[in-house]
Amino acid sequence: MRYILAGLFVFATVTTASAVELGDAERGYAFAEENCADCHAIDRGDYASPYFGAPPFSEVANVPGMSELALVSFFQTPHPTMPNFIVPADTVRDLVVYIRSLRK
Ligand code: HEC
Repeated sequence: MRYILAGLFVFATVTTASAVELGDAERGYAFAEENCADCHAIDRGDYASPYFGAPPFSEVANVPGMSELALVSFFQTPHPTMPNFIVPADTVRDLVVYIRSLRK
């Protein structure tokens, strides 16, 4: 799984270059910085979420069985603390690619 071993930059390059455009980890990160970082620890290896109870993204990424599909379906349901929080579909793909890139 070279995606996991490769750095974020390489990961983003690989996804951009591949035929199937799933999402863009860098865009996902930028969106997360703006919209998620108030509650979630979003950086690789950061396990201290600002909001108690919001799982750090590095933890989410490593939950067994947390597949792309599981993440995508999570974003199709209302966010627990934020019922009106809608993430556009394109951005969901970016976020999922970013979160998956945090896998150990
Ligand atoms: C207002 C604070 C807040 C913001 C902002 C927020 N979240 Fe959350 N998020 C939470 C809390 C609290 C939970 C845990 C809820 C639970 O487990 O019942 C959660 C859960 C999650 C989960 C589920 C993890 C799991 O194990 O099921 C994901 C994925 C997630 N958030 C992603 C995001 C993303 C991506 C953003 C930004 C687009 C975001 N969150 C913004 C508070 C927030």
